[in-house]
Amino acid sequence: RSIKSTLTSGSCHLLRRGYATESVPDRKVAVLGAAGGIGQPLALLMKLNPLVSKLALYDIAGTPGVAADVGHINTRSEVAGYMGEEQLGQALEGSDVVIIPAGVPRKPGMTRDDLFNINAGIVKSLCTAIAKYCPNALVNMISNPVNSTVPIAAEIFKKAGTYDEKKLFGVTTLDVVRAKTFYAGKAKVPVAEVNVPVVGGHAGITILPLFSQATPKSNLSDEVITALTKRTQDGGTEVVEAKAGKGSATLSMAYAGAIFADACLKGLNGVPDVVECSFVQSTVTELPFFASKVRLGKNGVEEVLGLGTSL
Ligand code: NAD
Ligand code: LMR
Repeated sequence: RSIKSTLTSGSCHLLRRGYATESVPDRKVAVLGAAGGIGQPLALLMKLNPLVSKLALYDIAGTPGVAADVGHINTRSEVAGYMGEEQLGQALEGSDVVIIPAGVPRKPGMTRDDLFNINAGIVKSLCTAIAKYCPNALVNMISNPVNSTVPIAAEIFKKAGTYDEKKLFGVTTLDVVRAKTFYAGKAKVPVAEVNVPVVGGHAGITILPLFSQATPKSNLSDEVITALTKRTQDGGTEVVEAKAGKGSATLSMAYAGAIFADACLKGLNGVPDVVECSFVQSTVTELPFFASKVRLGKNGVEEVLGLGTSL
């Protein structure tokens, strides 16, 4: 490359970066459980997101190291690490989006419900602090069992008088990510073009991938669809068994969590037609919380979309 083209593309790059940071609003994202298996790669991915201006990394231990490490990356956001309950308020203050991957993961032979006792307590204390320090933030709940931690969070917020059903999300994006990957493999279509809604919840048979609505369309047999459904429902267990006692999905979850948080930020910033599946307060079925497609907007959930119809 000539010096001229290098300089020109370099200055364009700088200009683009300048333009990007000046034209998007400041947004603070807090990750609670940021030193964990999900938290660390999620912190990395959020540091790469140009929509984030402040990134607060909170955990009960280990966050100074994660924050120092991630903070050296030359992207827009300022990174700060917070450790221990006495720093939780500072981590949360001013947050637009709070992502919660704090809690214990499964080991082989366990169900997500086996995590209930310990994770319910963790979620309770974190949500009590959210109600106090950033009651208007969008909360992205990753900690399991999501089918229970989301209703627990709702009750904590109700008790504190801050509950807004538009702002509480169970992150089920990993189910969608898996359904897309597995479908693309069988349908022999480019994975980047695939869309598959996944509804219901985030545990075993409550995970319902709607392959009848998958695009690009394909004519997979009922047998293959049944197998794809089962693999999606058991995707978490597949990883737990492969990790053989060393935890559950972390890297794919960090990716999925980053996709969902990015969608929340785009919605807050007024980008139109941002749609993701999420486990939210719902009237789609008789259940109080249910995962389905959700349109995201400036206040969080703009519209809970229905179940859709087969293509
Ligand atoms: P991990 O043990 O590697 O990390 C959890 C982190 O949480 C640790 O760093 C720990 O110190 C921290 N923590 C514990 N108590 C805390 C508290 N009170 N405040 C702040 N941080 C606290 O576990 P992981 O693999 O990252 O998984 C975390 C959770 O995410 C688990 O409950 C797991 O089941 C869940 N998960 C959910 C999905 C999903 O699709 N929603 C996918 C994968 C994992
Ligand atoms: C997953 O789906 O990977 C997570 O819910 C973790 C787990 O325990 O399966």
